Amino acid sequence: MNDSKQRYGGITRLFHWGMGLLIIWQFLKFFDRINDGEHWVGENLVSWHISIGSLLLVLIVLRIIWAFTQKNNRPEHDPATALLVKAGHGLLYLGMLLLPITGVLYMIGNGYGLAPFDVELVAGGEDKKIGWMIPLGNLHSPLAWSLLILVIGHAGIALLHHFVKKDGVLGRML
Ligand code: HEM
Ligand code: HEM
Repeated sequence: MNDSKQRYGGITRLFHWGMGLLIIWQFLKFFDRINDGEHWVGENLVSWHISIGSLLLVLIVLRIIWAFTQKNNRPEHDPATALLVKAGHGLLYLGMLLLPITGVLYMIGNGYGLAPFDVELVAGGEDKKIGWMIPLGNLHSPLAWSLLILVIGHAGIALLHHFVKKDGVLGRML
């Protein structure tokens, strides 16, 4: 269950691939730019955006706590690039935290309310707008583009390790 110097344990791998899948699902929201979302992806998969996003907010908090408990028994990195790797993974965590936060601020700030999985946590309404949340909520889209670029780079580097350097870095997360 715990991580070790040799590989990431079951819980870390479940967080990584489970959240990875959900985040890639969240990126389908970009498809709303095509024909105003009026297509199969928009109508079936993207309609879960608020619910999955809210779930991801809970998951990232748990994942950060988990990462702290595993700090001293995680696989090590090539010292030449260890700092860069740390910074890159740190930015991925930051993106995973800021996206759901800005998403929630967007919804509540603009008076749309918040009802993940049909559970109304915050009611919407014209009179419920909260001005200071709106500019922060507007960071959601630029942050989504930044995380997309980070994730593409991250997955690309993982594949580079596997197919070019053949050093088993991908294997310790599988
Ligand atoms: C890790 C979690 C999340 C990811 C990766 C994500 C990703 C995205 C992406 C890719 C877009 C499209 C941006 C664009 O077309 O420029 C988007 C838009 C949006 N997201 Fe999220 N999102 C997440 C969580 C949330 C949450 C928790 C909420 C609300 C509770 C939310 C609410 C929205 C809204 C309202 C839009 C439309 C904004 C607009 O039209 O300007 N998102 N998100
Ligand atoms: C096809 C997609 C992906 C592949 C192939 C992949 C591969 C990997 C590999 C091999 C590692 C271990 C790196 C090491 O030992 O230094 C790793 C770690 C990590 N990955 Fe990914 N990954 C993918 C998607 C994602 C996504 C979507 C996210 C989040 C946005 C993410 C976030 C992280 C983080 C934060 C770590 C550091 C370990 C941890 O704290 O969980 N990955 N990934």
